[in-house]
Amino acid sequence: MKLQIKFKELVIKNFKSHQDIKVNFGERTDILGDNAQGKSSLGESISWLLYGTDTLGSKLDPTPVTYEADETLVSLLLNVDDKDLLLGRELKKGKAKYYINEVPSKATEFNEILDQLFDKDLFLSLFIPTYFFTLHWEKQRSMVLQYITAPVNKEVFKGLPKLQADKLSVLVKKHSLDDLEKIHRANKTKLDKQYIAAQSRTKTLKEQLEQQSPTVPLESLQAELSQFVKERNAIEEVTDKAQTTNHRINMLQTQINAMMQDREYIKKQYESLKAEELQDTCRVCKQPLKDESIEAVKTEKEQRVGQVKEKFQDVVNKRKALEEELNKLESVDVSEQLEKARALQEKINPIEYEISKYKQIKTLEEQVNSAETSEKETLNSLNNSIFIIDAIKDFHAKEAELQAEKVQGLFENLSIKLFETVKTTGEMKPTFEIQMDGKDYRKLSLSESIRAGLELRDVLSQQSEIIAPCFVDNAESITKFKEPNGQLILSRVVAGQELTIESEEK
Ligand SMILES: Nc1ncnc2c1ncn2[C@@H]1O[C@H](COP(=O)(O)OP(=O)(O)OP(=O)(O)O)[C@@H](O)[C@H]1O
Ligand SMILES: [Mg+2]
Repeated sequence: MKLQIKFKELVIKNFKSHQDIKVNFGERTDILGDNAQGKSSLGESISWLLYGTDTLGSKLDPTPVTYEADETLVSLLLNVDDKDLLLGRELKKGKAKYYINEVPSKATEFNEILDQLFDKDLFLSLFIPTYFFTLHWEKQRSMVLQYITAPVNKEVFKGLPKLQADKLSVLVKKHSLDDLEKIHRANKTKLDKQYIAAQSRTKTLKEQLEQQSPTVPLESLQAELSQFVKERNAIEEVTDKAQTTNHRINMLQTQINAMMQDREYIKKQYESLKAEELQDTCRVCKQPLKDESIEAVKTEKEQRVGQVKEKFQDVVNKRKALEEELNKLESVDVSEQLEKARALQEKINPIEYEISKYKQIKTLEEQVNSAETSEKETLNSLNNSIFIIDAIKDFHAKEAELQAEKVQGLFENLSIKLFETVKTTGEMKPTFEIQMDGKDYRKLSLSESIRAGLELRDVLSQQSEIIAPCFVDNAESITKFKEPNGQLILSRVVAGQELTIESEEK
């Protein structure tokens, strides 16, 4: 976008000391005259017409105080992009009226037209070279940076140490730098705590380990133990065997006793069977039995007697077999051996306890190892986050540096400071300072500040691609300066001279 704004004709009625005056502007317009001839008022009439302010943006009432006048009127014929536009502002009894191409208009319409054409602060900065410096530094900064594109990541990476650039260039594929910073700041906070906890766990475990101090070496404990265990096992082998035999003996005796009782019982059975009389009458009808029946009864009794005898013999035989086995066995008294085994066990127990300490040590050592590993891992992750946070900080510093270089490249005599380093954190904080020859703008002389203003407004004009008239007031104070971009309106004090306006086309 390129916009060319030109002033063609200014008509002033009853504006401050000017009762009636017309100015035709050329490419260069010289306003000459002694002090108090109304030179500055001419510039003011334009800022008042457009914005109701003086040239530095303060509200202005130009109603004449030295003579009677019904109304104040300023109208300006502008040419914007080859189109004429006639704007007028009138002040009558404290009431403002607006004209667009001679058509009475509302304030809102008037302001809208202006806003659409150009930004107020930008226009006034171009028109009045000192205006820019009256703005808040943040406004000044944003105006200068408005047209400067921030350096792309790639460009910034080139200026970073390789390690940082490599790391960030991979990470930015997934997250924005701002998000990365948030992630790793949160991670750092978490890991700082985690690392302290991990360190104290390792410390506690190591202390526990140090407290485990077995005096006898494991090998001798094991040798001693295996000797005792061997002895104890040998004894137990004997006692176990003896106890099996003794148990068997007990069992045999119990069984034999039971069989003796059985035998007595069967014997009694036999005797009562023997004494039983043979029946010769029918149990039911009580009639004498016939011969063959008697015979049958006899045979049946003999059979029963035979069975009892057989049973008796069987019990006797079995008992004899058990007695035979019992006779071969010998009961052994193992109480002495058992006592020995118990004594050995008493020696074994403390040794085993000592050996268990070694096992505990091994477990503790493993725990210490894994605690140290996790401590190291936490530290690595923590360092990684710190590295990334630092890299991002350096990235922003580099980015700021490149941006500052870009901005600085626009200026010839001015140096522009866009960032300052926060002492405590080392981070870059936006600022805006303009210096000329190492001096702050505020310290400059009148001519120096005009020159500084002219350089700045030309940069703004180039960057915004807006060409606008420039009003250099008090130009007598400056002997030489670079001609600004756009129409030049120069006001100069000339002793003893009435107000004269000379305009020339170049
Ligand atoms: N409201 C007003 N009504 C009448 N006269 C005014 C009013 N305001 C200012 N003046 C006077 O207008 C005259 C012109 O002022 P102006 O500032 O334009 O002069 P100048 O030519 O720029 O002077 P200098 O060379 O001192 O900068 C001055 O005498 C000033 O006092
Ligand atoms: Mg003046």
